[in-house]
Amino acid sequence: MTDFLDAGERLDREELAALQLERLRATLRHAYENVGFYRQAFDRAGLRPEDCRTLADLARFPFTVKADLRDNYPFGMFAVERSRVRRVHASSGTTGLPTVVGYTDRDLDTWADVVARSIRAAGGRPGHTVHVAYGYGLFTGGLGAHYGAERLGCTVVPASGGMTARQVRLIQDFRPEIIMVTPSYMLTLLDEFERQGVDPRSTSLKVGVFGAEPWTEEMRREIEERFAIDAVDIYGLSEVIGPGVAQECVETKDGLHIWEDHFYPEVVDPFTGEVVPDGERGELVLTSLTKEAMPVVRYRTRDLTRLLPGTARPAFRRMEKVTGRSDDMVILRGVNLFPTQVEEIVLRTPGLAPHFQLRLTRDGRLDALTVRAEARADATTEARAEAARAVAAAVKDGIGVSVAVEVVDPETLERSVGKIRRIVDLRDTTP
Ligand code: DLL
Repeated sequence: MTDFLDAGERLDREELAALQLERLRATLRHAYENVGFYRQAFDRAGLRPEDCRTLADLARFPFTVKADLRDNYPFGMFAVERSRVRRVHASSGTTGLPTVVGYTDRDLDTWADVVARSIRAAGGRPGHTVHVAYGYGLFTGGLGAHYGAERLGCTVVPASGGMTARQVRLIQDFRPEIIMVTPSYMLTLLDEFERQGVDPRSTSLKVGVFGAEPWTEEMRREIEERFAIDAVDIYGLSEVIGPGVAQECVETKDGLHIWEDHFYPEVVDPFTGEVVPDGERGELVLTSLTKEAMPVVRYRTRDLTRLLPGTARPAFRRMEKVTGRSDDMVILRGVNLFPTQVEEIVLRTPGLAPHFQLRLTRDGRLDALTVRAEARADATTEARAEAARAVAAAVKDGIGVSVAVEVVDPETLERSVGKIRRIVDLRDTTP
């Protein structure tokens, strides 16, 4: 069963910890010696890289946040000479400057290795064909998946995002076993299969490797059922490398093993910044252990999860499926609400398609939320009304806040071609 694991995956916890400490100390030294930002931050905290003597000592070091990357736009966080930077990527950033990340040859190699390992954990094998429908470009999804699949020895179809009708055609003609795409774009593909009169369960696909946005167990069930495939979760972020930081194993589907020989995880209380024990929920903080061009020390991901012991890859801890980003949390009359909580409810409600949007408006001095969910094509008027009532009741009972619910006609909500935008904030445009 384990004959196909690589050397990193075969380490035991003790060997892994020794490797992590050695790599961590080297990373702190590299960051301190070559990046002004880290030198100043460590100096301010009165710390030298050598002060990290155990893995737990990392908690004494300062955090890095997205704004630090913006402040050092474009290349101020790079730790190597520009001539050694072989590629850059950038995240679009909804506000202000994008954040830029860089890779040396060795970084690109590491990245391909961790993505190859991820695809293998998802069930991919050399010789498989992988349809990559993550966007190519500055976004890390397309090229990250691409080089990882090649590294594993797969045939890659670099479809990128968009031109949905053509994607359906390519899937039928090229017969890939694996698709890598955001879960929301997979739903767009689903519509297109149906529009073309092709049974989505009839394709060659066996596994979908879905990530770049939060998605729930309900969404997994929906996609698995409608496409007759296994759906597994891939996690990553450009600041840390891109996709391939953590991956769910197809045989267990129980959260994502973090490739801890390259990325050291901590979970902290998002308010106090204190490290919380494994098993407790909080914000994921990541430190790169092998990166050259842009090491990151204690990067605050804003993603909420918890750490659990390893299962299918015993050396590596798992992270629970991300419930959401702290940025996407809506605070409604004092109650915290995440889009994923609404996703669970909408997908469980008969008569509704798996498409929804959250509209935030201002009602006098109070914020109000309207859940707009799409009816299934066959839902009667009564079924729609019943669905609206059911969603409102489930949100009230489960989350503890009153929301309005509108069930809209099929195919009226905006479809995703990449990461879907769940929240439409109209508070500045309503009185
Ligand atoms: O989204 C990298 C990626 C590409 C991951 C393809 C997986 C597949 P960024 O654009 O920098 O990088 O966005 C990173 O996306 O901090 C999370 O908030 C979110 N995210 C990524 N993967 C998941 C996931 C890529 N599996 C941000 N579940 C992260 C939930 C995810 N959220």
